[in-house]
Amino acid sequence: MRVVLLSGPNLDLLGDREPAVYGTARLADHVRAAAEAARAHGLELDHVQSNHEGELVEAVHAARGTADALVVNAGALTHTSWSLHDALAAFEGVVVELHLSNPAAREPFRHTSVVAPVADGLVAGFGGLGYELAVAAVVRLLQERHDREAR
Ligand code: DQA
Repeated sequence: MRVVLLSGPNLDLLGDREPAVYGTARLADHVRAAAEAARAHGLELDHVQSNHEGELVEAVHAARGTADALVVNAGALTHTSWSLHDALAAFEGVVVELHLSNPAAREPFRHTSVVAPVADGLVAGFGGLGYELAVAAVVRLLQERHDREAR
């Protein structure tokens, strides 16, 4: 089983970027935590970070038929990107939306997520712990899908 972690714009600056909001850990630290959590459950995890909307859309296309689940922290594209929404709608596996901060408790423009309608669920507001929680959610959802299909 394979999971792809997608990181959107400006997440490559984690550690330096607004540490009071996003913490001091770097993206590589979060990716390592997610990959370790995945490995502990026998899942392979690949990571794609891009500051470009189209590259994220293409990463979702590449995941079709090759990945069982996506964990998506789309950064600010969460609030604006209908092309990412549509790409995710065409992905048949599990989708978990992820945020370090809790967008619902921040500025009004962050209160709308266009990823949410095409996600199975959302992990937000737990900082770096969210990467492990999102993988745990993927594991559980894949297990549930497998059990349903076996019935
Ligand atoms: C974020 C929340 C978004 O609103 C913001 O634009 C980000 C990071 C988060 O992880 O908390 O870039 O996705």
